[in-house]
Amino acid sequence: MTTFEYAPAPESVRPHLRERYGLFIDGAWQAAQDGRTFETIDPATEARLAEIAYASAADVDRAVRAARKGYEKYWRKLKPADRAKYIFRIARAITERGRELAVLETMDGGTPIKESRDFDIPTAAAHFFYYAGWADKLEWAMRAGRTPEPLGVCGAIVPWNFPLLMAAWKIAPALACGNTVVLKPAETTPLTALALAQIVQEADLPPGVVNVIPGDGATGAALVEHGGCDKIAFTGSTEVGKTIARRLAGSGTRLTLELGGKAAHIVFADAPLDQAIEGVVNGIYFNQGHVCCAGSRLLVEERVHDEVVARLTERIATLRLGDPLDKNTDIGAINSRAQLEKIDELVRSGIADGAELVQQPCTLPERGFFFPASFFTGVQQSHRIAREEIFGPVLSILTFRTPDEAIEKANNTPYGLSAGIWTDTGSKNMWVAQALRAGVVWCNTFNQFDPASPFGGYRESGFGREGGVHGLYEYLAG
Ligand code: NAI
Ligand code: MG
Repeated sequence: MTTFEYAPAPESVRPHLRERYGLFIDGAWQAAQDGRTFETIDPATEARLAEIAYASAADVDRAVRAARKGYEKYWRKLKPADRAKYIFRIARAITERGRELAVLETMDGGTPIKESRDFDIPTAAAHFFYYAGWADKLEWAMRAGRTPEPLGVCGAIVPWNFPLLMAAWKIAPALACGNTVVLKPAETTPLTALALAQIVQEADLPPGVVNVIPGDGATGAALVEHGGCDKIAFTGSTEVGKTIARRLAGSGTRLTLELGGKAAHIVFADAPLDQAIEGVVNGIYFNQGHVCCAGSRLLVEERVHDEVVARLTERIATLRLGDPLDKNTDIGAINSRAQLEKIDELVRSGIADGAELVQQPCTLPERGFFFPASFFTGVQQSHRIAREEIFGPVLSILTFRTPDEAIEKANNTPYGLSAGIWTDTGSKNMWVAQALRAGVVWCNTFNQFDPASPFGGYRESGFGREGGVHGLYEYLAG
């Protein structure tokens, strides 16, 4: 098979990176109380990008107090239509600075520029636009006779995959409903959250309405344990999600958890295979597989298994791995060394269990954290690679003979976030979708997102919905 050689096409926009960033508390940039800082690097080059103030418990306390003051003094008193104007301003600023934010997201996290540019940033802006529109129409979301009341101060803890988008998923509905926010970005990807703080400042939001306090797990834990938040919205690992749920049980603090997944992606023999292969590739290799709803367990009807494997082998040979800032790149950098080690460890367990590994032929860059697009055939339900979230560009392929067997295998997981189905038979699509225990089921497509559509899981994938009208209820009392 021939592939075209492309000349390098690196993104020419360079973001305004500061040498140092403070904490954004009470509408102003502040140093950490104890002066502690940490560095964020570019995972594709391992180069240091900036030094960031690290928020400890004392800073968390300041941020929560600022958010409380911002809530009591300004935000809850503002007419809903005026709240909307501020949120629209944020949305417009994200759009106007879209190119710069995309480059920043790519440099800090390793996601390919074509994805940050065409998905992450536009979808983040879309969430602010969508929820700005709701701010003065909340009565219409309520049951008759009920008045929409905000919760108060919301703590938002987000992961390193889709950093700005995950912040937008939480901040946009929180603000629209009249709440104020303390955002804790992930330790490896704080830069777009800090750029968002700049936008919030330029949009002239009242002080304390949005606070951004970078740090690590201890910072997140301090925010949860502070006791001053009326709600915690968390996206991240199931393990940490469980800790937070235990900590807040019985406290009256509202909680939404968007956790891990091991989504079944089912391909029936009657599926349009060309499209299905593209869906499978998008499902697992999008953002290097750092996706909570990634289609990481492929269930293929046995009689098309060999053909699917042959086509997939051919297709991954055409994927381009390398510089995430190059617009030709399909597979960017793994977010961190720790994540690369985790992927590596799980892949070695797959080989030791007897599954067969197929990888895209490519040379890995000398510096940075990279892992080739990979899949395993001959996977058994009992293998770790069939059960645990790998959170990397690694697909596990299993087979089935009947739709009932497909459903049984698909549901044989402690998770329940997303699933996908490929078949040419409409009725089969419908009844399989209904039998799958997952919060989101995509039919003959995958990874579709829209701010008007709710997203979330159940069982070990968490609870609560983000997006759509349902996303409003998570930020309203009653
Ligand atoms: P993590 O759950 O530790 O981190 C997510 C966020 O929570 C970060 O902002 C982190 O600083 C914060 N955090 C960590 N410990 C906390 C605590 N005790 N209390 C409050 N906040 C805390 O995820 P991590 O370690 O970065 O990744 C580990 C694995 O988790 C990954 O390999 C992947 O399998 C999974 N993961 C899943 C995500 C999803 O969207 N489903 C997102 C990130 C990770
Ligand atoms: Mg980084």
